[in-house]
Amino acid sequence: MIDVDGQKRAAGEAAAKLVEADMVVGLGTGSTAAWFVRALAARKLDIVGVPTSQATADLATSLGIRIAQLGDTRTIDLTVDGADEIGPGLSLIKGGGAALLREKLVWEASSRCVVIADAAKHVKTLGKFALPIEVVAFGHKITALRICDVLAECEIGMMPALRRRDGEPVRTDGGNLIYDVACGRIEEPAMLAAALKSVTGVVDHGLFLDLADCALIGGPDGVFELEP
Ligand code: A5P
Repeated sequence: MIDVDGQKRAAGEAAAKLVEADMVVGLGTGSTAAWFVRALAARKLDIVGVPTSQATADLATSLGIRIAQLGDTRTIDLTVDGADEIGPGLSLIKGGGAALLREKLVWEASSRCVVIADAAKHVKTLGKFALPIEVVAFGHKITALRICDVLAECEIGMMPALRRRDGEPVRTDGGNLIYDVACGRIEEPAMLAAALKSVTGVVDHGLFLDLADCALIGGPDGVFELEP
């Protein structure tokens, strides 16, 4: 039986085998994506990585991967990134590591996106993992009230909670704040996604819908693949 960290590692290593020389590769954020970055560096291919966070940029650089900023390369051939939940049709919740905005920007600029995760992330319905919502700091308490209204319209009766670390609000790489919503069950992810995007002050949310082309899931007995 492979333990959770072994499952993440196996998924990351399987994804690294998808990379070919001369590719531009989007580099995800989080512990599973870090396994991918390490396995990719070990292959010593001539590639350019486009990191989705400062933490991933630091890791990739320390391992000798050449990196570039989003927009400074040709189209990204392949992005590999983790997720907090993988639901029906490869709908995802992301942002547990507070990198959702840069992740989504990189994903949307990629020809192909592969999500990697351990088996516990694979769920029947999204929402057990609290949905991260990135908001601008200015007026964020007002924005949170508007988010409450939107949640109520979507029949989600939970309050957004400002994410803190060591008592201080967490800041994203872009200087924004994160609110987490323990939705429980998200029955209509597309409706919720559109409603959240309509709120002024919301920069983006952790629902990644119709973006993943394939999932590589590390299970207790090895890696298996899922298509949308
Ligand atoms: C980062 O903001 C997230 O989207 C991560 O990809 C997600 O939280 C998965 O992280 P782990 O691979 O550490 O579980």
